[in-house]
Amino acid sequence: MKRVLIIAIAFLAFSCKKQEAIPAEKQAEPTTTEAAPSEGMPVEVQTPEQLGESIFKGKGTCVSCHKTDSKLIGPSLQDIAKMYKEKNGNIITFLKGESKPIVDPAQYALMQPNIVLTKTMTDEELKGLEAYVYSNLK
Ligand code: HEC
Repeated sequence: MKRVLIIAIAFLAFSCKKQEAIPAEKQAEPTTTEAAPSEGMPVEVQTPEQLGESIFKGKGTCVSCHKTDSKLIGPSLQDIAKMYKEKNGNIITFLKGESKPIVDPAQYALMQPNIVLTKTMTDEELKGLEAYVYSNLK
């Protein structure tokens, strides 16, 4: 009797899960991510630094070449932040393609293709990236 009950409960739990999994997960997910306003909303509550970090690690793919504290393909974020602070540079104009590299100009050819992407970003996104780079300043 006990065993039957356990099997029945297990079966019930399983079938419930299964029912939930199909319509809820498979259907609700794409519709919520696709809804444009929900993408704009969190930006409002994000700080510029958080926005920058999400771009840096997300669609910007900057993280594939820039690490926080050591050189990868590009200079570390700490080095970039330090140099820009010292030289009073402007990261936003650099990312817009309007000012020259000051950190490692000899390697600029590797960074240049990214400017094509960052040029298309909004001022808010670029301010975010700048804030994120500076947040790594020691
Ligand atoms: C393919 C590798 C690569 C990717 C991806 C990349 N970078 Fe770079 N980045 C470099 C290299 C190499 C340098 C050093 C050359 C230079 O100073 O311009 C650099 C330099 C920089 C500098 C310093 C520029 C200066 O004044 O010298 C900034 C700021 C920067 N990157 C930001 C970014 C951001 C933001 C992203 C993402 C949108 C990004 N990078 C993506 C390779 C990359």
